[in-house]
Amino acid sequence: MRVGVLTGGGDCPGLNAVIRAIVRKGVKTHGFEFVGYRDGWRGPMDGLTIPLGIEQCRGILPRGGTILGSSRTNPFAAEGGVERIVANLADTGVDALIAIGGEDTLGVANRLAGMGVSVVGVPKTIDNDLSGTDFTFGFDTAVNIATEAIDRLHTTAESHHRVLVVEVMGRHAGWIALHSGIAGGASEVLIPEVPFDIDRVCEDVQTRFQSEYAPIIVVSEGAVPADTGGQTLQSADRDAFGHVRLGGIGDWLAKEIETRTGEEARAVVLGHVQRGGTPTAFDRWLATRFGLQAIDAVADKEFGVMVALRGTNIVRVPLSEGTDELKVVSPEEYAEAQVFFG
Ligand code: F6P
Repeated sequence: MRVGVLTGGGDCPGLNAVIRAIVRKGVKTHGFEFVGYRDGWRGPMDGLTIPLGIEQCRGILPRGGTILGSSRTNPFAAEGGVERIVANLADTGVDALIAIGGEDTLGVANRLAGMGVSVVGVPKTIDNDLSGTDFTFGFDTAVNIATEAIDRLHTTAESHHRVLVVEVMGRHAGWIALHSGIAGGASEVLIPEVPFDIDRVCEDVQTRFQSEYAPIIVVSEGAVPADTGGQTLQSADRDAFGHVRLGGIGDWLAKEIETRTGEEARAVVLGHVQRGGTPTAFDRWLATRFGLQAIDAVADKEFGVMVALRGTNIVRVPLSEGTDELKVVSPEEYAEAQVFFG
């Protein structure tokens, strides 16, 4: 069998570990051949391929990014995109496709599976907002990077008696903010799921200063002040999947806090630092196991599914389970962090 592999959407640490596991097991156990598709769905759409075998996978386990490249190409938004994919798969003699991606990439995979394309999905995103799986790889690395930043910001905030606001990624879900905020001992965590009251945040800031500690506020890029109702945008231009570019809530918060409380405040935007560099051991472990199970699903000819972590087991679930609804922070989980606010 000839298997195509692609990585789509925002990159994340662990993508190369998945590719390596797919290829190693695919060649050794199943005797498969591979075709690497470049830059997400653009690869099969425009016939952009690279050689992919054991040789190309040597040394890539700890490497961030993806050797295949990535993009946010949406074949359903491109002229004849889907027809071109079907024709290119046939031309390159590819019998099955493994798509490694988040809600958008796997959403496309799900629609293609419905049209008869033999596709298996592997869930990835640092945001950890895909349903059907307990965790996606990349998330643990992002949380560790954010936690280290918070640890460092504590000491400088204490020295200068300042408020430090840390803006982390998380478009619709506050998982990175919640986990790093709890791990880093933040005095406030603000997430997209729960619009925040700026007056209450300022009260918490003042309470924190009374106890001689400096406040550290972790805010997801998608968090929304209750009275304005809208997310803070860097750009309203939409990508092929209809997403605007978020960013700026950290700066807005720091300025508002200074104006309302008279306390000095600074904002730090972690941005793509959270997505770059080497994956943690947990993410390498999870990504490797996802890859091994994905190629087994192909060997079993079980298509239209994605691999998922349930407890400590890797299972196969319908692609729609991962993409129909986003996994967001529940009020109960958020309440755990709220114990430490102020
Ligand atoms: O989808 C993951 C994510 O990290 C989001 O949290 C963020 O909004 C987005 O990627 C930004 O990605 P890019 O700058 O690559 O468009």
